[in-house]
Amino acid sequence: MDSYDLSLADGADDWAAYHRIRRLVLFEARGRFDYIPEGPEEIKAENLSLLLKYLEEPIGTVRLDGRPEGKAIVRLVAVASHLQRQGHGRVLMNLVEELAKALGINELLVHAAPDAVGFYQKLGYSHFDFEKGDFGSVQLHKMI
Ligand SMILES: CC(C)(COP(=O)(O)OP(=O)(O)OC[C@H]1O[C@@H](n2cnc3c(N)ncnc32)[C@H](O)[C@@H]1OP(=O)(O)O)[C@@H](O)C(=O)NCCC(=O)NCCS
Repeated sequence: MDSYDLSLADGADDWAAYHRIRRLVLFEARGRFDYIPEGPEEIKAENLSLLLKYLEEPIGTVRLDGRPEGKAIVRLVAVASHLQRQGHGRVLMNLVEELAKALGINELLVHAAPDAVGFYQKLGYSHFDFEKGDFGSVQLHKMI
């Protein structure tokens, strides 16, 4: 994993890459053209906007939103489209798990897109409804 680095987006280049990957992978690839880069959730102190670099190139994103009682929600997980299914997503999730543990978090929660549920299940997540409401997602969790 030495070739990888998962860190807070820092500086104009990182933020541009972070938003570009999210816009392309999570919105435009799904036919959505309403991505808003500067949403209020990005600047909350308890929400960490993380950029994955591989060989120093930005290739993935995730946001780790801290919640009370040792929990956190993993959001907006994305690997650049041309690099998917090559093991980078697994590394991204392992690194976010390590970071979460270091922050004292012991349970990760996810609202998964229905077509990504298999990915999380491979990484040890299981179905767990933690929020009421119609989110169009599948809710999963993992104790870490
Ligand atoms: C979902 C995503 C983050 C996974 O990253 P990735 O780099 O493609 O995944 P990996 O190559 O590390 O795959 C790890 C394992 O999960 C499996 N997997 C990956 N994506 C999957 C999917 N959508 N459905 C089922 N299994 C999947 C892989 O086959 C692999 O299994 P293996 O280890 O048995 O071979 C990435 O494909 C992506 O950005 N997709 C589009 C956006 C998205 O759906 N994000 C999640 C929103 S909740």
